[in-house]
Amino acid sequence: MTDTRDAATIEHSLLDLADALDAADPLHAHLDAFADAPGVSAYLDGNSLGRPLKDTPEKLAAFVRDDWGTRLIRSWDEQWMVLPMELGDRIGRVTLGAAEGQTVVADSTSVLIYKLMRAALRHAQETSGTRTELVIESGNFPTDRFMAEGVAAETGMTVRWIEPDPVLGVQISDVVAAISERTALVSLSHVDYRSGALADMPGITTAAHEVGALMMWDLCHSAGVVPMQLDAWGVDMAVGCTYKYLNGGPGSPAFAYLRREHQGVLRQPIQGWWSAADIFAMGPQYAPAGDIRQLLSGTPPITSMLAMQGMLDLIEQASIEAIREKSLSLTDFAVRAYDEMLAPLGVRLLSTRDAALRGSHVTIGHPDFRAVTQRLWSDGIIPDFRYPDGIRLGLSPLSTSYAETLTGVLAVRDALESHDR
Ligand SMILES: Cc1ncc(COP(=O)(O)O)c(C=O)c1O
Repeated sequence: MTDTRDAATIEHSLLDLADALDAADPLHAHLDAFADAPGVSAYLDGNSLGRPLKDTPEKLAAFVRDDWGTRLIRSWDEQWMVLPMELGDRIGRVTLGAAEGQTVVADSTSVLIYKLMRAALRHAQETSGTRTELVIESGNFPTDRFMAEGVAAETGMTVRWIEPDPVLGVQISDVVAAISERTALVSLSHVDYRSGALADMPGITTAAHEVGALMMWDLCHSAGVVPMQLDAWGVDMAVGCTYKYLNGGPGSPAFAYLRREHQGVLRQPIQGWWSAADIFAMGPQYAPAGDIRQLLSGTPPITSMLAMQGMLDLIEQASIEAIREKSLSLTDFAVRAYDEMLAPLGVRLLSTRDAALRGSHVTIGHPDFRAVTQRLWSDGIIPDFRYPDGIRLGLSPLSTSYAETLTGVLAVRDALESHDR
């Protein structure tokens, strides 16, 4: 059906809808917990870097003054030694569906991917002469692909590539076609960093297990925004970052999940003193800890573990299910605004229309988007650009309003219309 309304009427009805959705939003009050960013009228990049909470500066100052400044090195014994495991348990409980003792906070996502991939392939080599392949998809985040290639080269294994649909992402059928009794590990992203496609974690994990392979998930774009049940779904290992929907701040350390039955069996390669059975034995030989601490290597970045704690409180208060509900509604609203405002200008939708199969960002494409993004950033409208011509509208349910989402879409329209080619 052709829309015969004029542009101003369409814009007004979207503005009214945004206001109505904000007014009915049960999570609306949480917006106030986030620090103001003067000059920014739409922040649509929480899928890359979450905003700080208002009380983060005071908490960081108190940490420097008290925990570090006054308690000094005593704080290691009093609280910091166990923080990587305690915080891991918290992330596991609040966002991952993981019972305690299986998640730890350490390193960057990239380093943890290396540790877990290497552990999985080493295990395959020690237990089977025939599992020689690591299955990964060509659209996975660069670090995942690069690590896979590096680890395969180190172990003499082969990388088998899945070529999924760029909008719908990896399907079970793609995985089933790529795996066999030769597969040691399947490594995929839960939410595709470009299209936002949400993979069927339980279905794919089961398929991997049916051929005897281990399954690893990258949760960077789903932790804190998409509920999951790592324990119940049988996931073997997972990694994720804490600076996106967990708002830990730039470079805050990542988390790794290793299923209990693999602990003490799989061994990661960077065997530093923090992963030793007895950290302070300082003995001549290395013996790995038998529990999740074995994934650590060196002194953990305690200062960088502070900011995410406030966000975990907020997620727990709001509940991950309510967050997902708002995320579905926000991305639906963004798609509707796209349909009415941007599709007529030739902008392509690069995410699926089925909200249940999306994470929390919507990607749109246009040849002029690189220049448009530069203009938007200087005007205080902040989505992010992804090569070659995509803009991701990252909608972080606790900190993003419907009105803000619409402000972003309208600004993309205005920038495109006035863009001097
Ligand atoms: C899906 C995904 N995996 C891995 C990474 C790499 O994380 P890091 O740079 O913290 O190692 C990122 C970073 O944005 C990501 O989006």
